[in-house]
Amino acid sequence: MDGFNENDIRHVVEADKAHVWHHLTQHKPFETTDPRIIVEGKGMRVWDATGKEYIDAVSGGVWTVNVGYGRASIADAIRDQIVKLNYFAGAAGSIPGALFAEKLIAKMPGMARVYYANSGSEANEKVFKMVRQIAHKRHGGRKRKILYRERDYHGSTIGTMSAGGQTERNAHYGPFAPDFVSVPHCLEYRAQWDLSGEAYGARAAEAIEEVILREGPDTVGALCLEPITAGGGVIVPPEGYWPRVQEICEKYDILLHIDEVVCGMGRTGTWFGYEHYGLRPDFVTLAKGVASGYAAIGVTVTTEAVFEMFKDDAGDPLDHFRDISTFGGCTAGPAAAIENMRIIEDEALLDNTTAMGARMLANLEGLMEKHRVVGDVRGKGLFLGAELVADRASREPVEERLVGAVVAECAAQGVIIGATNRSVPGFNNTLTFSPALIATADDIDAITDTVDRALGKVFG
Ligand SMILES: Cc1ncc(COP(=O)(O)O)c(C=O)c1O
Repeated sequence: MDGFNENDIRHVVEADKAHVWHHLTQHKPFETTDPRIIVEGKGMRVWDATGKEYIDAVSGGVWTVNVGYGRASIADAIRDQIVKLNYFAGAAGSIPGALFAEKLIAKMPGMARVYYANSGSEANEKVFKMVRQIAHKRHGGRKRKILYRERDYHGSTIGTMSAGGQTERNAHYGPFAPDFVSVPHCLEYRAQWDLSGEAYGARAAEAIEEVILREGPDTVGALCLEPITAGGGVIVPPEGYWPRVQEICEKYDILLHIDEVVCGMGRTGTWFGYEHYGLRPDFVTLAKGVASGYAAIGVTVTTEAVFEMFKDDAGDPLDHFRDISTFGGCTAGPAAAIENMRIIEDEALLDNTTAMGARMLANLEGLMEKHRVVGDVRGKGLFLGAELVADRASREPVEERLVGAVVAECAAQGVIIGATNRSVPGFNNTLTFSPALIATADDIDAITDTVDRALGKVFG
């Protein structure tokens, strides 16, 4: 770093180009262009290394920065905590660990215990391990299968990819762990049954029951679902789906694992996505918005009934949850999470999310009337998608390069939006939006006006 000056931004760009391997990125183009380097953020806005300002309509790219950038109070909470105690392994407790768990559980009737880790993938892996351990303890090893849904995503590790319903994400990374079994998706716009509305929802849930009966209910331990599928196309399950899913889980004694890594912490206008549907999950996993990206944190939340199964034979040295998460002992995560939650409460961000989400959905519906290429818009709260089709009647997806062109045109005009990316073959055609929960009406209108212009430019 000889002679390095942090204002020498060209040096930063060259260092990045020479040494950083970016996630989900083909690097060949950077031989002739520069990667985007984000240097600063404030509220809904970020600035890149060239000084260009953007409205961030995707909360840090992957629906994470729920309370927006530049929150000094979160930085202060982290600093104060890590100067006092930065770390001790999770076999011991910590002040913020205990207090955040208490605050979180108070929002989750029926839940009782919080296990700390540091990413969404890791939080989900913990559930899979708990389910397997319960199978061995209670069911002679039989009830060990974990069901997951087509188009859902639960993480980047081999374990979570074994529960990955996005075949492009998984391609070339197998073989995966055994006894993970897929169930059909529930996206009515891409209907698998000639039904609609509530009847469609109930049928899609019954498709899960068919898989359970095929596999043998005594072999199925858990069902892992996103409340609203995120990267697989912003899929809001139809009416009629969730009540049947809950019934099916109860009928066959299957633990229900809701992956709230994206929906959790206000994204859909309630603290958790599952609240919209009155679900009673056995496991809930949270990460991204828990500390809005100010610190890395992932949590696995479960019931007292599940927790009890890991302490009922204290004389057996193998009876407890024999898992280690080194960085689950970092105190920055829960310290940031407490302050993050206070901000959501004190600034009434759940109400704002509901109001601004309704505005954004209405704006997107307006774009659907104006641009034939918008085949469907869907979502809840500030978690929305617009599916682009070449032909409305056949619903044939537009070419992926055109979706990319819309995203690039929005960025050129100063708005960062997302798109389903390396998810389901042929269906990387949904634009995605997840602005911070602090978005104002002007921010929302600026985002959708830009999308309007970009659609006009790319599709005429
Ligand atoms: C629904 C869902 N679950 C889990 C994960 C994995 O989280 P992480 O990237 O923190 O491991 C993601 C990440 O995008 C996600 O969208």
